Amino acid sequence: MSDRIYSRIAGTGSYLPEKVLTNDDLAKLVDTSDEWIASRTGIRERHVAAEGETTCDLAYNAAMRALEAAGVEASELDLIVLGTTTPDLIFPSTACLVQHRLGANGCPAFDVNAACSGFVYALSVADKFIRSGAARTVLVIGAETLTRMVDWTERTSCVLFGDGAGAVVLKADAETGILSTHLHADGGKKELLWNPVGVSVGFKPDEPNAGVRINMTGNDVFKHAVKALDAIVEETLEANGLDRHEIDWLIPHQANLRIIEATAKRLDLPMERVVVTVDRHGNTSSGSVPLALDEAVRSGKVQRGQLLLLEAFGGGFTWGSALLRY
Ligand code: ACO
Repeated sequence: MSDRIYSRIAGTGSYLPEKVLTNDDLAKLVDTSDEWIASRTGIRERHVAAEGETTCDLAYNAAMRALEAAGVEASELDLIVLGTTTPDLIFPSTACLVQHRLGANGCPAFDVNAACSGFVYALSVADKFIRSGAARTVLVIGAETLTRMVDWTERTSCVLFGDGAGAVVLKADAETGILSTHLHADGGKKELLWNPVGVSVGFKPDEPNAGVRINMTGNDVFKHAVKALDAIVEETLEANGLDRHEIDWLIPHQANLRIIEATAKRLDLPMERVVVTVDRHGNTSSGSVPLALDEAVRSGKVQRGQLLLLEAFGGGFTWGSALLRY
């Protein structure tokens, strides 16, 4: 037995808002069609938070399910890390709001903003706390209400996004768990995918393109995402001395089925070994990877002892991966 500490996933949970918006519903709002959306993105429908339902609400529900699955009480948590780019408030952080609602007051709690890579970033941070011995039981959440910054008259972006949250409870373990995480960012590509509204630059809701809308140069983002994910998959395999055929499941960020298929091809992995939820969830940003993971665990697809590769790419640009033995 090694004296190394790993972060083992003790339980997973997720939550989706009740309201479902189909492609046909969207075709009533903008000039689009189920055929266009499904063939370009793989998305058929997405969930949309109800009026008054916030990122904290989604995160709390996902967290409760993860705690229950792990058999962990909120009072046992040493740390809460929450990936989001749609916090309830500028401050306090959504992690603090969730902490209080869980009744876990006292442990450190903070948000990580890495757009769609938020959960993978948060997982990596949590893993480092556990490996260093600074924490033993950590709640990691990815939660978003991205539809709140969607311009429902803008067909190029409104068809892509949905709301949702996923969570995992990590526990220090001597045997198995997260083998490595890899994070990258390139702030030079800011304007290919961004929301220009801010605090320090001033709120300028009346300027062109500066309202609530997500600005995205879809084609360029697509190409950068495929390239960056190819590279990070190679980096992850190499760092662990693994052959690509040893991966049991790819659990990718769910932005676009064609991006997912490109990464699967790189891994020579049949699509039956790839967890796909984008058809029903759309792009839930930080929520997407833990939502997909939870679905794969609860459906019995992912089994204890299997090797999972998680990856994500998002605004920033940011991208990251995590290799773990479940
Ligand atoms: N319905 C019908 N037609 C549409 C729609 C729509 N919803 N949206 C765009 N079109 C039209 C365009 O106007 C264009 O028409 P034109 O040829 O007459 O000019 C045509 O369809 C093709 O548009 P493209 O933008 O070239 O379509 P593309 O095949 O690139 O697909 C998409 C667009 C789906 C956005 C794709 O580029 C993509 O998925 N990009 C990556 C998105 C992503 O991964 N984001 C990362 C994370 S997001 C985050 O971090 C918050």
